[in-house]
Amino acid sequence: MNGRETVLEVPDLRCETFRLRQWRIEDAPDLFEAWKDPQILSGSVAPEKRSLRDAREWISRTDVRRRAGVSLDLVVADGGDDSLLGEVGLYRFDKSRRAALISWWLTTGARGDGTATRAVNMLAEWALAGPLTAVIAEMKETNVKSRELAQRCGFDLLRAAGDSTPMAFVRRAGDPRFPQAGPVGRAGAPDTVGSRP
Ligand SMILES: CC(C)(COP(=O)(O)OP(=O)(O)OC[C@H]1O[C@@H](n2cnc3c(N)ncnc32)[C@H](O)[C@@H]1OP(=O)(O)O)[C@@H](O)C(=O)NCCC(=O)NCCS
Repeated sequence: MNGRETVLEVPDLRCETFRLRQWRIEDAPDLFEAWKDPQILSGSVAPEKRSLRDAREWISRTDVRRRAGVSLDLVVADGGDDSLLGEVGLYRFDKSRRAALISWWLTTGARGDGTATRAVNMLAEWALAGPLTAVIAEMKETNVKSRELAQRCGFDLLRAAGDSTPMAFVRRAGDPRFPQAGPVGRAGAPDTVGSRP
């Protein structure tokens, strides 16, 4: 990682039931629907404007954000018909600490069978096999499903919630509980990771 690197690679990550892929404009109606889900609105970062047109615009900027090293936003896509099951992403890259935040959500129909656990594990392991040494997940203390998910994925409590700060969990590179860094389908570790300008 050097000062000029900004482009985030798109990983080739998949398992028998889904793959992680870039957003496509055709995903806009599904994203528009997902942004109506109170749990997604409460638990994850959704934009203020959430019309179908806003969904299309948000998707159209995902590759710009990736190329600028701002965020890596990936669809969790059904292994059969490639439809949207959810999202996992990395954002707020802190180059000096070699760390980034991780985000996740699933559509309501995709929950309850371990899809998020596998997707978060895949992305975290890929990132930690590259230049990142820590992946951090922030969430409200009341977000029980996300707390359980973080713990299932080997994240440890980093910081309890404060008056105005969410609780945070961290997963670090070289964790002896995860000796095999490469998840199923990992095509290569990232060697260029950017940061917010
Ligand atoms: C957070 C969120 C993704 C968790 O979804 P989830 O379906 O609970 O997570 P998983 O897909 O990993 O599934 C776990 C469930 O499947 C079960 N399961 C079945 N097979 C499993 C397997 N092979 N591996 C793991 N879990 C499995 C688990 O026991 C668990 O069941 P439970 O819901 O009864 O506890 C979802 O609640 C969500 O989208 N919330 C809104 C967005 C949000 O809050 N984002 C947080 C940003 S930090």
